[in-house]
Amino acid sequence: REREMTEREREQRERERKRRDREKKRERGDRQFDLWDSDDVPVPRKELLQKVKGVDALVCVLTEKIDAELLDAAGPNLKVLSTMSVGFDHLSLEELKKRGIRVGYTPDVLTDSVAELTVALLLTTSRRLIEATHEAKSGGWGTWRTLWLCGYELANSTVGILGLGRIGVAIAERLKPFKVKKFIYTDVAPRPELASLIDAEYVSMDELASQSDFLTVCCALTPETKDICNKDLFSKMKNTSIFINTSRGGVVDQEDLYEALSSGQIAGAGLDVTVPEPLPTSHPLFTLNNCVILPHIASASYSTRNAMSALAANNLLLGLKGQPMIKELKL
Ligand code: DGY
Repeated sequence: REREMTEREREQRERERKRRDREKKRERGDRQFDLWDSDDVPVPRKELLQKVKGVDALVCVLTEKIDAELLDAAGPNLKVLSTMSVGFDHLSLEELKKRGIRVGYTPDVLTDSVAELTVALLLTTSRRLIEATHEAKSGGWGTWRTLWLCGYELANSTVGILGLGRIGVAIAERLKPFKVKKFIYTDVAPRPELASLIDAEYVSMDELASQSDFLTVCCALTPETKDICNKDLFSKMKNTSIFINTSRGGVVDQEDLYEALSSGQIAGAGLDVTVPEPLPTSHPLFTLNNCVILPHIASASYSTRNAMSALAANNLLLGLKGQPMIKELKL
C-alpha cells in the first residue's frame, strides 16, 4: 500500500511537472504535442481525462466521446478540436459551442474510399461472396447446381439512397456502370443539385423502402435519424432487397434488422457499422448467413487515412493560429 501511494505521488508530481512545463512553453509561444502513440483506441477514459488537462487543442478520432466531462477536464485553454472523421456524432456540439471551441473535421477526402467500400460490400452481400468462399473452402462445393448460391444483380435494379450527400452521389456514380435502371433518394428535403449529378428522383421514405432493390444508408447519425431503419422500414421493403449501411450503426434498430433478415422479410444486409463497435462475436447478427459485417473499414485505405490525418492536423494548426480551418464545422 505504501509503495502504491508512492507511485501515485510520483505520477502526480510528474503530471504537475508536465503542466508547469506546458505553462512555460505556452508563455514562450512554443507548441508542445502529446501523442497517444498506439492504435489501441479508445484511449482509457481516465487517462484521457488526465492527459487533456490544460491543452490548447485536441485531435481525436471517432472512438473518443467529446462531451461536457472531457471539456471540463480540459479546462478553459482548449480552443480548438479537430476530429479525424467526417462523422461528428461523438462530439457534443452544444457543449463545444457553449465554450467557444472551434471544430475541424475531415469530409471529402474519404468520399472515394467510402464509396468504393460500399460498392464492394453491396456486391459481397448481394452475390453472397462470403458464403461462397466458405462453401468452396469447407467442402460444400459439390456439382454445379442451378440455383445454388444465387443472389441479386444490379443490372435493371432500383437503388435507393437514404440521405443524399457527397458519399451517396459517389456511390451512385460507381454503381451506374453496373446498368442500374433508376436511382431514388430521400432526405429531409429534395437536394436537386446533387440529385441532378446522378439523375436521382426524390421520393418519400415509404417509396424508398418499397421501390429499392438495394437500399444504401448514407445519412449522418443525429437525434432525428437514430433508429430510422426499423421494423416500419423493413416491413415495407421487398423480400428480394439488400440493405447496406456504411454510415453509423445507430441509424439502424439492430433487433428489427435481425428480425427482418431471419424471417426473410429482406434478402440480405451488409453492415460496416454497428452498435456497439466492436460488435460482440456472440451477437445474433453474426449467426445469419445473409448478413455481412465488416469492422468499420469504409475509409481504411492508406491514401485516405493519410489524407484524413493531414487534414485533421492542418485544421488543428490553422485553428491554433486563429485562421479559418480547411474544413470547419459551423456551430
Ligand atoms: C468517419 O470519418 O466518420 C468514418 O466513419 C470513419 O472514417
